[in-house]
Amino acid sequence: MSDVADRTFEETIARHDRIEPRDAMPDDYRHTLIRQIAQHAHSEIIGMQPEGNWITRAPSLRRKAILLAKVQDEAGHGLYLYSAAETLGVSREELTRNLLTGAQKYSSIFNYPTLSYADVGTIGWLVDGAAICNQVPLCRTSYGPYGRAMIRICKEESFHQRQGYELLATMMRGTDEQRAMVQESVDRFWWPSLMMFGPPDGDSPHTAQSMAWGIKRHTNDELRRWFVDMTVPQAEALGVTLPDPALAWNAERASYDFGEPDWDEFWAVVKGDGPCNAQRLAHRQQAYDDGAWVREAALAFAEKAGDEG
Ligand code: ACO
Repeated sequence: MSDVADRTFEETIARHDRIEPRDAMPDDYRHTLIRQIAQHAHSEIIGMQPEGNWITRAPSLRRKAILLAKVQDEAGHGLYLYSAAETLGVSREELTRNLLTGAQKYSSIFNYPTLSYADVGTIGWLVDGAAICNQVPLCRTSYGPYGRAMIRICKEESFHQRQGYELLATMMRGTDEQRAMVQESVDRFWWPSLMMFGPPDGDSPHTAQSMAWGIKRHTNDELRRWFVDMTVPQAEALGVTLPDPALAWNAERASYDFGEPDWDEFWAVVKGDGPCNAQRLAHRQQAYDDGAWVREAALAFAEKAGDEG
């Protein structure tokens, strides 16, 4: 980059303005964005699997319609995000290959199994709740196409979070067995939800630079704390217990104290050793292979349309 382009980039970042696809940007900024947006897109696509698992077994037509709509929304989010990544000069083909070979990651949370229908509610409430905390600030990220994609995604995530909470609230008004199902599900998903925000700030290699570039607007620990503060009163209203004996209101900080997630478990899941990593990737590979004829037909049609045009 020339000195002038470098200065223009730095000034745009300092003004909290947007960098757009045709603007000059440092290579590392571009690579960091590709890494984060790709990981985010892959998470949306892989994230369809844990809940998709329950579509055929939804307990009523209404629940099935809600779940179908929600899982389709996640596919849409993946597509906006892949498009945002493509504006940085990387192809969809390459992104898909990077997911399937494990060269790029997706969120750790989607490597946990969904064992009961209460998990659909818990994923909506906790996982989409965590996603909202992480993603609302990303609407103000410094890269234009990413920030604009996040605006619509956050509106839809907010619906997802509410439908999850409403499902759990309905179950909590039901039988003792239903209440036990909700509690069991919350016990399994609480710690993995806290891990979604990434490692503690002291162990996060990318946070400082990503904050300096305005890609991230808050650190992992700040967002995790924000999530806990938002969620504890909701858990009380629902009537469930969060499985953390260290959870306590800290009047001095006007915020909750809470325990440490098991970071060894987090890194094992991130590195591929979670309960469902192999299954998630195998399923995605199968879906990709099954879709080959669609891609071939679309290409043949585009070529034919080109010839005729
Ligand atoms: N799952 C998998 N990998 C993770 C996770 C996680 N929960 N948290 C951090 N990592 C990885 C990072 O990708 C990075 O690995 P890499 O260098 O190989 O890419 C490494 O752990 C170190 O982490 P950080 O330095 O903290 O990385 P980063 O600054 O990118 O912060 C974060 C991680 C907070 C997830 C950030 O990338 C982000 O905000 N992404 C956008 C949101 C997103 O991806 N959400 C997906 C789940 S939400 C949903 O889909 C419903």
